[in-house]
Amino acid sequence: MIATDIVPVELGARRYEVRVGPGLLARAGAEIAPLLRRPRVAVLTEDTVAALHLDTLRDGLAAEGIAMQALVLPPGEGTKSWPHLARAVEWLLEAQVERADMVVALGGGVIGDLAGFAAAILRRGVRFVQIPTSLLAQVDSSVGGKTGINTAQGKNLVGAFHQPSLVLADIDVLDSLPARDFLAGYGEVVKYGLLGDATFFDWMERHGPALAAGDRSLRQQAVCRSVAMKAGIVVRDETEQGERALLNLGHTFCHALEAATGYSARLLHGEGVAIGCALAFDLSARLGLCAQETPGRVAAHLAAMGMKHRLADIEGELPDAEALIALMAQDKKVVDGRMRFVLARDIGKAFVTDDVPPEALRALLDEALTQRRR
Ligand code: GLY
Repeated sequence: MIATDIVPVELGARRYEVRVGPGLLARAGAEIAPLLRRPRVAVLTEDTVAALHLDTLRDGLAAEGIAMQALVLPPGEGTKSWPHLARAVEWLLEAQVERADMVVALGGGVIGDLAGFAAAILRRGVRFVQIPTSLLAQVDSSVGGKTGINTAQGKNLVGAFHQPSLVLADIDVLDSLPARDFLAGYGEVVKYGLLGDATFFDWMERHGPALAAGDRSLRQQAVCRSVAMKAGIVVRDETEQGERALLNLGHTFCHALEAATGYSARLLHGEGVAIGCALAFDLSARLGLCAQETPGRVAAHLAAMGMKHRLADIEGELPDAEALIALMAQDKKVVDGRMRFVLARDIGKAFVTDDVPPEALRALLDEALTQRRR
């Protein structure tokens, strides 16, 4: 039996723990009970996750005498929207969730972001527990307190920083993920190595295939190391005034590609992150910032994992370089009209810059789009 690892997020009075290990859903009652003022919680989840995990959570809570009410929302990005936020908040009020009660987010990034935001605005803020059920949510979105919804104007444009009181990352739930979703989440794991920990990237090159094949111990190590990196960055820069922007490695490209593919199943977010990381290293090499062979090493690992890593791996039509650049310019990371990129001097040495010559960016995208047509 693998023991639970605890990664603290040291935010003073708002300190919390990310607990990573097997069987946490079944033990949720014992894990959460010390935080409760009364033995009841309100759970927000979605259909697919509810079918797989809600009974285990209910039993785990009941084992400690904790009652549970659940609102089961539709799966998919469309749930991170005003109508579902309104529904969730009104349901929480009807369920008489009080200021001192606990909301539980059981699901992937969509549910975590929506439930966290609902908790942030309900009665001017109630506490919540994240129980992330996707790899992406375990290593990224459940930690750090970014919550919110999408609007017609773009993704994540409405939201709040609201830190959870506890995160339970149950390694067992990763077994129920389709391979494509698992690998998309792994795109965010690779991101951590690339942005700040070359030793972690070496480790991934050695262990990635076994981890993807299902090795629980390796999965737990990958989640812990990713969460520890994120926790460190969040503690130093909670509201993204500086260092936290490094977590956006690959994201300027990714957001443009997601918009170009209509936020559809053609490209999952984590797939866009992996392709975006590969492009960020290509651009870094093109600008003479990192060694010419470094992008090849990044691409080789993504390819060895069977992951999408080039524009050529996205099915269907893509707009031309000009149109992709226009989509990048709409990203919310634009400051004073200048696009900000996370580039790298080497694996593990990322930095933020707004100094990217437009012609280098256009040449990179033109070439990547031409490879698609070959
Ligand atoms: N997902 C990026 C961040 O939490 O800052």
